[in-house]
Amino acid sequence: MLDVARRHEFRVLAAAKPTLPVLLTAGRLAGKLRRVPRIGWVSADPVVARRILNDPAHFTLLGEGGVGHLWAQVLGDWVNEIFDGPGHHLLRARTRDLFTDDSARRLTARVIGSRLARAGAELDDGRAVDVADLGRVLVGRIVADLLQLDVPDHDEAYREIFATGEELAALALGTTTSTHLAPETIARARTIVAKLTVNVDRAWRTASPETVLGRCRDLGLERRQAEGLATLLMVAGTETAASAMARTVAILHDTGAQHRLRADRDLLPDAVREGLRVTSPAPVIGRAVSADVTVEGRRLRAGERVLMLTWTANNAAGAFDLDRGYLPDQRQLWFGAGRHLCLGAPVARAEITGLLEMLLRSGRPWRIRDRTYRRNVLIPSYACLPVRLARH
Ligand code: HEM
Repeated sequence: MLDVARRHEFRVLAAAKPTLPVLLTAGRLAGKLRRVPRIGWVSADPVVARRILNDPAHFTLLGEGGVGHLWAQVLGDWVNEIFDGPGHHLLRARTRDLFTDDSARRLTARVIGSRLARAGAELDDGRAVDVADLGRVLVGRIVADLLQLDVPDHDEAYREIFATGEELAALALGTTTSTHLAPETIARARTIVAKLTVNVDRAWRTASPETVLGRCRDLGLERRQAEGLATLLMVAGTETAASAMARTVAILHDTGAQHRLRADRDLLPDAVREGLRVTSPAPVIGRAVSADVTVEGRRLRAGERVLMLTWTANNAAGAFDLDRGYLPDQRQLWFGAGRHLCLGAPVARAEITGLLEMLLRSGRPWRIRDRTYRRNVLIPSYACLPVRLARH
């Protein structure tokens, strides 16, 4: 059963990018830290990765090799301040309580609760629900709410939000060896950002302080900066969450772990944590070396790059296992670590939990007969994952 789950996960990775499973599995050889030609420094060790992510004095995501470098080219130099400078520290300090587990649960209940209930009713009726598509619709709904986007309330509109966020993220494809974007890529990205943020201006002026945009305004961020942050929330919170949702549902099915989970609902947080660990939807985190530093006895020079293979580091602990418990080395490396630790982690957990609760509600096992994987995408995921409930 475990092998079935592993085989499908391997195919999910390979469809996204044929070289990805090779990089992630052979990446184990990198061990704690190794220099790899054309890539730079590579680490597959959870403790070393966290040490690097917790060292802003020597590593940055702004320089060549980091995601901030990509966004500064698209959004402008202000990214340098808000992404990694004192402005970032201030923003994170102020937004610390923006998403707590409680507020994220309230958010998901309000924004995706009714759509999940509809999917549950379809399953009860004996119909198939494509969980991959449902995941994209659900995160589209969350993003629309977070950004106060003004869209008609039907699935197609939320699919389009998802697709737009995805197109923007896809511009980063092929940046394993360089984060310098071509001028035409920058132009295209700016067009998409303008489209995404067309309603942000009004929402930023009028939204209440509980909303992300209202909070940005009260922090004293300029409208342009709020637009940029809104864009980043959309890019960071769409594909990753949809990927984790569908893949966790598939793994629970493929390993047979859904039966234990149905018998003991207290295992739900373990299922969510293990799903996130094994899928690690953002499989690689990059940083640039900003000042010479010695790590694990190796001398890293300013201007070099480090790739942290977080999927490899997280999966080194073993296959999906509801009894695995908390891993002190990995902690929650699937959400990163340090000052850039995922801002939306509670939202992601609440989204996956909501989906699993819906699937568990009837007490009947779910069946998956066929599935397809998304091709040439930044975040590995399912294209189609139709799920049906077994008959009593
Ligand atoms: C399973 C789902 C998710 C995964 C695996 C994930 C993973 C990550 C990771 C690894 C980082 C750190 C990147 C780095 O250090 O370079 C990150 C940052 C971030 N994530 Fe998530 N994320 C998920 C869902 C979300 C959601 C739902 C949101 C928003 C609602 C979100 C918003 C953000 C933001 C704003 C950042 C940047 C934080 C900063 O730079 O201070 N993420 N995420």
